[in-house]
Amino acid sequence: MNEIRVAIIGGGGFMGYAHSLGWALAPITADAGAVVRKAVLVEADEERAKSAAQRLNWEEWSDDWRAVIARDDIDVVDIVTPPGSHAEIAVAALQAGKHVFVEKPISNTLQDAEIMQAAAEKSSSVSQVGFNYRHAAAITLIKNMLDDGTLGHPLQFRAHYTQDVGALGRVLSGWRAKKSAGGSGVTGDIGSHIIDLASYLVGDIESVNAIVGAKNPKSNTAWLSDEERKAGDHLDDAALWMTKFENGAIGSFAATVYASGRKNRLFFELECTGGTVEFDWNHTDEIKLSLVSDDPDKQGFRTITLNENHQDYWYPLGGMGTGYADDASLQLQKFVRAIVEGRPGTPGFAEATRTQRVIEAVMQSADNHQWVAVDEVTA
Ligand SMILES: NC(=O)c1ccc[n+]([C@@H]2O[C@H](COP(=O)([O-])OP(=O)(O)OC[C@H]3O[C@@H](n4cnc5c(N)ncnc54)[C@H](O)[C@@H]3O)[C@@H](O)[C@H]2O)c1
Repeated sequence: MNEIRVAIIGGGGFMGYAHSLGWALAPITADAGAVVRKAVLVEADEERAKSAAQRLNWEEWSDDWRAVIARDDIDVVDIVTPPGSHAEIAVAALQAGKHVFVEKPISNTLQDAEIMQAAAEKSSSVSQVGFNYRHAAAITLIKNMLDDGTLGHPLQFRAHYTQDVGALGRVLSGWRAKKSAGGSGVTGDIGSHIIDLASYLVGDIESVNAIVGAKNPKSNTAWLSDEERKAGDHLDDAALWMTKFENGAIGSFAATVYASGRKNRLFFELECTGGTVEFDWNHTDEIKLSLVSDDPDKQGFRTITLNENHQDYWYPLGGMGTGYADDASLQLQKFVRAIVEGRPGTPGFAEATRTQRVIEAVMQSADNHQWVAVDEVTA
């Protein structure tokens, strides 16, 4: 039996909590011949590290990620710090021979992402990025219906990722507020999830045409002009973009934190030649499905409730409810399996770098008011 000893870097924050739950469940559900130990929690200072480690049930704590990465008895480095610090920690961990799990977005810049991808390609370790939503059982069901031909060829994808934290005047943590503090903006922060889902389900995005809005701090009614946004230390608080996919499908995306009443609503509809499918993270346990092959007098949407017949559904009985902790754990379960079986993690650093390239294309298009080809974006 393999023992996998994990060090989590930045474990005292939001994702530290989610991943601590995830790691607690992953060994139970991984069924992969591995015992996972929550070995060390690292935080920016000793007191925060100690209290988080005790609260979240980690064996040890530290305020020095470099010293922890240098230890021979650590196998996995799980990076849940703000995105601006991902590259430095991930590259050091890969060079030290550790398996690396890093939260999304892979970084805040394409340049950092490419450095991380190159380090992963040089290493024989497993690396994976925390695009957790693609692992949900409902998404696996949709992916399977695309792969087995039930849905046919994708035609149009429309996704919204909407939250109300901006509308309520609160940000989850200081670094998210400004570009200079390491924030990703909504396109990189929540938009990256719907780009990842689109790439996973529909295919690679070829080009984008975008507009973004940054909230005017002096007015409760307006977005800044593009010139004001670009000149200051502002991030995109709302973004809309159209896409063409390489396989001919088309898409539209919306992300905002100024959506009063929307509590982490990740929603999409995907129309294909064989039918349409709809998913809403606020109803994680179901999808809506309409098939062109349905009898004419029965056309319309049916609701499929996830159950024991579905891949990635953990319970022996349908409708038990799955949520954020299940999802955090599902992605870590798959990461553990990849380590034990010597396979690449998914999504790996190359796929997440492609997502970063799309994010950069969205921002360039918003700045230049033109279609931007994703492959032509340079770091
Ligand atoms: N997949 C998801 O659903 C999801 C949700 C939220 C956040 N995230 C991602 O997770 C990452 C962290 O976000 P968060 O919301 O947990 O942020 P957070 O601010 O709540 O937590 C980050 C933690 O990192 C610590 N930290 C910063 N620098 C450090 C260093 N050098 N050494 C040790 N600790 C350090 C901070 O003290 C803080 O506790 C980001 O990349 C974010 O985009 C993913």
